[in-house]
Amino acid sequence: MATSSRAAPDIDALRCQVVPSARPVAGLAEDARRGLLHRPRSLPSKYFYDERGSRLFDAICRVPEYYPTRTEGVLLARHAAAIIAQARPEHILELGSGASRKTRHLLAACEGGRRTPTYWPFDVCEEMLLAAGAELSGRYDWLTINPLLGDYCGGLRHLPAPDGRRLFVFLGGTIGNFERAEAVALLRELHAIMAPGDRLLLGADRVKDPAVLRAAYNDAQGVTAEFNRNLLHVLNRRLDADFVVEAFRHEAVYREDRERIEMYLVSARPQTVRLRALGECIGLAEGERILTEISCKFTPDSLESLLGAARMRVDAHYAPPDGYFSLVLARPD
Ligand code: AVJ
Repeated sequence: MATSSRAAPDIDALRCQVVPSARPVAGLAEDARRGLLHRPRSLPSKYFYDERGSRLFDAICRVPEYYPTRTEGVLLARHAAAIIAQARPEHILELGSGASRKTRHLLAACEGGRRTPTYWPFDVCEEMLLAAGAELSGRYDWLTINPLLGDYCGGLRHLPAPDGRRLFVFLGGTIGNFERAEAVALLRELHAIMAPGDRLLLGADRVKDPAVLRAAYNDAQGVTAEFNRNLLHVLNRRLDADFVVEAFRHEAVYREDRERIEMYLVSARPQTVRLRALGECIGLAEGERILTEISCKFTPDSLESLLGAARMRVDAHYAPPDGYFSLVLARPD
């Protein structure tokens, strides 16, 4: 399948195009002020992903308990040809493309189906965009890659709008990291820039046996715990804070009533933390929690309803026999 083998992919050949935000995006200082200074305390989960956090997330994807990445990869490998045949993309635009690892299945299917779409990976991390781009252009000699540097939380209005059918791709179940209203808002923004022939391929984790879900976020090796605590290193570095990382425990619970995982950092003892960049101190009681992530799980119905709220309709729904994960191909209504 994979054809060309340029020995040394030329990183310098790729240039990132900066996508300006359509509206101001709060920075860490503002989010920390809003989320940490008052109870209940919380922080947006996007701050996990500094360099170490991204590496820890990659490691999570390899622990036996964390099934979503593997399951989605298998689904993509199995159904990429059908997805590409339905969407017939001239452009593939991926939100939060990261290392573009799973996108390869789509590109391989394009090759097999004699389609040569342009790939537009969109991510906040320039290094990732360049490394992934270099890797992919070494693998597919026909592939044009236009990396887009920006934050989809700042809106999608300024994404380039090339001629031709687009397949938008939003994988990994990241849609679950948003509250429903935020998820609907993001999908509506996507809807607003979609032409009738465009399609969305969305990956979403499913409601299932709570024990399986709990295990996936409490792996035995403690990688998820380390990933969670890494947020404190990020705060220490970027806000000149003095969190004692060892004084916090990882907690991930499945809330059956809300069909979501909630991940917390729990203060193991009473402590005071200084956030020098904010000129603030916070006092944490023993057992006090900071919400660091929600990860919503879906049923086929709740997924359809979410997409419906953004005026999108499901064209095809791919899931394994155990129903652990869903890939849906949707179109604007
Ligand atoms: C892939 C970002 C959606 O919520 O499952 C993994 C992040 N957090 N383990 C998820 C995550 C803890 C992951 N996302």
